[in-house]
Formats: sequence, C-alpha cells, structure tokens
Amino acid sequence: MEQYVIKGGNPLVGEVKIGGAKNAALAILAAAIMTDETVLIENLPDVRDINVLLQAIEGIGAAVERIDRHTVKINGSMIRDVNIEYEYIKKIRASYYLLGALLGKYKKAEVALPGGCNIGSRPIDQHIKGFRALGADVRIEHGLIITEAEQLIGNHVYLDVVSVGATINIMMVAALSQGNTILENAAKEPHVVDVANFLNSMGANIKGAGTDVIRIKGVEKLHKTEYSIIPDQIEAGTFMFAAAATKGDITVKNVIPKHLEATTAKLLEIGCEVEEFDDAVRVVSSKPLKHTHVKTLPYPGYPTDMQPQIAVTLGLSEGTSIITESIFENRFKYVDELARMGGDIKVEGNTAIINGVSKYTGARVSAPDLRAGAALVIAGLAAEGITVVDDIVYIQRGYECFEEKLRGLGAQIEKVSSENEIHKFRLKVG
Ligand code: EPZ
Repeated sequence: MEQYVIKGGNPLVGEVKIGGAKNAALAILAAAIMTDETVLIENLPDVRDINVLLQAIEGIGAAVERIDRHTVKINGSMIRDVNIEYEYIKKIRASYYLLGALLGKYKKAEVALPGGCNIGSRPIDQHIKGFRALGADVRIEHGLIITEAEQLIGNHVYLDVVSVGATINIMMVAALSQGNTILENAAKEPHVVDVANFLNSMGANIKGAGTDVIRIKGVEKLHKTEYSIIPDQIEAGTFMFAAAATKGDITVKNVIPKHLEATTAKLLEIGCEVEEFDDAVRVVSSKPLKHTHVKTLPYPGYPTDMQPQIAVTLGLSEGTSIITESIFENRFKYVDELARMGGDIKVEGNTAIINGVSKYTGARVSAPDLRAGAALVIAGLAAEGITVVDDIVYIQRGYECFEEKLRGLGAQIEKVSSENEIHKFRLKVG
C-alpha cells in the first residue's frame, strides 16, 4: 500500500492551480451518455474516482476516448447494456448517477446498490422517491436497484432531505421525461448547477439550479456538446487550510471565489488574511489562530467536505472550538488518528469539542476516508517531525498530484511504498 511520508514544520508558500471539480465531473460523465452524439468534456480531474467511472461507462458499451489527462470524448450511441456491475459501485458510490442517466435515456437501468462508506450509511431513498414520482418502477433485488418505466412523466417532487445526489439523479431523469417537473428542497451546490448547465448545453430545459426549486421541462432527446468542468472548491479549500495550519501564504488559482465564501469566512474568523481576485484567492496565516464554532450545512452553508480540514486547523488554534457535523453521522474518524499527533479533540455524538494545542508531533496515522486523509496530511505538514500517512488510496480518489502540488509549495512530502523508502526519506531530511 502506498503511503505519504512528511517532514513537517515548513510554512507552505506559493501558488497552486486547482483542477476540475470531482463531484461535478462524476455526474457530468454519467449524464454524457444521455445523447447518442459525441460529447467533449474538458478540465476533468485525473483522479481515481473519475477513471473508475469512465471504466464503468466503457463497460456498458459507450465509446470513451481519452484525449489527454483532463479531456475525454464520450459517445453513448453504442450502449448495449444498462446493468452496472457491483465492482464499479463498490469502488465509487457515484456510479449511481448512471441510474438516472440510463433510466432517463432507456427507461430502464440496473445498478448494484451502493454500500455505505466510511462517513455514514449513505441511503438513496430520496433518489428512489424521485424516480417513482416520475413514473418508474423501482425495486431492490439481490443487491441490485432495478428500475424501469413504460413512460416517464414530469411531476412535483419534494425532497425530504437536501441531497446532492438525489437532486442530480432526479434532474437527469426529468430532463428526458414528458412534461414539467418541479423539484423542491433541491441541493444548491455549485456542482448541481454545473450538471444543470451541462444538460442545458445538450438541449435540456432546466431552470432554477442553484436555488431550492428546480424546474425541468422534459425534451425528446439531447445532443452533442463541448463542456468544461468548474474548479473544485473542495480541493481549493484544502489548500487554503494547509496555508492556515502551516502559517503559510498560498494563492489558489483557477477558482471561483464565490464557491469558497463559507471557507473564506471561517479563515477570516480564525485570524487569517484572505484576498480575493477574479479567479484566485490568497490566504496568509501570520498570527496565532483563534478558536471558532462550525456547523456543516448544505450549500451555501459550511461544507461537510471541508470539516476535517478545519478541525485539524482549529486543533492548533488558541482556545476551544466546536464543530457540529449535521450531514453525515460518522465523519470524525480522523480524531483518533489526530490524537496520536497530540491533537486534543473529544467527540460527543455529531459534535467535536476541540482544545487547541501548541503543536502536533509527527506520527504514523491512517487515512480513514478521502477528506480526513487530506486533513491528516495537513496535520503532518504542520507537525514537528516525521508523519507517515497510510491508506492514501482514499486521498488519491479525489486529489490529483497532491504531493507534487504540496512540494511546489515547499512541503517536504514523498509518496513511498516501503519501510526502506521511509528510512531513506528520514536520512535525506535529517
Ligand atoms: C455528495 O454526496 C458528495 N459526493 C459528497 O462528497 C458530499 O459530502 C455530499 O454530496 C454532501 O455535500 C459526490 O458528489 C460524489 P447527499 P451525496 O445525498 O450526494 C442524506 C467527497 O468527499 N440522504 O447530499 O451522497 C445522506 O445520508 C464526498 O467528495 C438521504 O437521507 O450526499 C446525508 O445525510 C463525500 N437519502 C445527506 O442526505 C438519500 O436518498 C446529504 O447527502 C440521499 C441522501
């Protein structure tokens, strides 16, 4: 298994270019098969989840042509199968976007039921509620979600829970249903808007994405398009907190500052300086950090995908901070790992009470999930001494060239896969 080995203590300084948004790209790749014409998608992040989903799409017969690391052409005219194998959904939950895409286009789909993951049970009842409201029969048999419809007719769907995945999946089916669909209590994340814009560029008629009421007028068919994915606000925020935790000065480039408002607000609250440009944000951390309170909420609230990153930073701030995780029920698994580095965090239910410490000390830790893994890297970058982060395959799911980008900011970090390489790193950095 590959690991990161890090010598902490260097303030991270410089500029880093942010890639395309993984969570927009996963849905857009699925939606791309909804036309029989060729779709060109640019600014794809070259990360594991994207590459697995492209394999799943190819696996059902779509033509996938990788133009370069960040560009792909997809043609869904040759799809011969609407059954997505368990091996793909086991690797990435977001394969369930193919449910909405295939149901919308072929009026049938079979996708293995996604398991839970490390941050919670991850139900899909709201997805199913939407599909049924549009006229589809949905049943779960032998671990498969099997859905089919004689006709797909627009309807009024009220989501009981604000769900990014359900909003996107229902939007895809409604795009090719007959008549009008109103989707209420919809998720407003930037990547929901990106998927709506992508579908509209293919000829769909979707209005209101980014608000909690999305109106979709079904169309007969969708056509070719060329589209570029929005920047990844979570990758950007991760580097912004790396600046905060290491007392650094980082400019994240190729971002949409508006998507980072909740993160920027918290960085200002804890004493960082933040400067916004048209497509960049600069974070300078030169003073002792202060405590604050955070509650994760659907967009535009503070994002749950940025919760471990701020927790690790608050673990080095003066005073006691409180974090309430209101989206997922098991997203504090990194706390025990951080304790090995000297962190002082107590978890009670969905709340973490963080007593700031003066420093972390390097230790061997394991990444429990994607964002917690990235947060533990931030802790290692700030820590005194050497940190080894195991199970970095989680981090590679969502961060492209993570260690290279960090080295470009002055970090002493290497990807290794043996004790011997760790020993060599220790000798090299002294
Ligand atoms: C997306 O997951 C993201 N993943 C997650 O990012 C992100 O944390 C999450 O949205 C929230 O922003 C992708 O986009 C691939 P939800 P999703 O449906 O769509 C409950 C990362 O780090 N719920 O918005 O699965 C659910 O249990 C990942 O990149 C239902 O109850 O999240 C949760 O409490 C981690 N029933 C809440 O809604 C449903 O049918 C929000 O989940 C669906 C969801």
